[in-house]
Amino acid sequence: MSDDKTSSATARIGIVTVSDRASRGEYKDRGGPAIREYLEEVLSSPWEAVARVIPDEPAVVEQALIELCDQENCCLVITTGGTGPSKRDITPEATEAVCEKMMPGFGELMRKVSLEKVATAILSRQTAGIRGGALIVNLPGQPKAICECLDAVFPAIPYCIDLIEGPFLTTNEDRLVAFRPKKKPGQ
Ligand code: MTE
Repeated sequence: MSDDKTSSATARIGIVTVSDRASRGEYKDRGGPAIREYLEEVLSSPWEAVARVIPDEPAVVEQALIELCDQENCCLVITTGGTGPSKRDITPEATEAVCEKMMPGFGELMRKVSLEKVATAILSRQTAGIRGGALIVNLPGQPKAICECLDAVFPAIPYCIDLIEGPFLTTNEDRLVAFRPKKKPGQ
């Protein structure tokens, strides 16, 4: 990683709402806007959203994730919904199907902090993984889960994106401090 990385490159961030009913317009998508609002509050470096609202269909979810990573050049894709045990909940499987490597620590930490708030957090199979130059992170569908989960894992996201050679993300440090290992002298 070069020393002169700046936050000038605009990061593209995919926001994917996975919901049969929201995709049919039966109810308003609240998860996607909640993720967007969170990112607006937390990120200080330039970014733009690429949003999708799609049904809980494995092939559709996989295709959307592939497009956002490979064609839309997103460095981060955040999904909401479809992580539970119901028959139609397939977001973690679709994520795993398109990722080269899984990042299980994200799901572990999100469940740990969520369990301190709601007992039903055990029902979320949310995970994360890497596809090419993108980190994909699953969140549950409940809008209030979005902030709870992102507050837990977002500090790790900028450094994770550094390691997959994506744009240098910075945060509003009065809201959230990202961790990056301190450089040793001479590095
Ligand atoms: N995690 C947090 N932080 N807050 C929540 O309200 N809801 C749970 C769980 N994780 C919840 C949570 C519930 S009720 C379910 S069923 C699972 O996430 C899966 O939700 P999903 O199928 O909408 O992804």
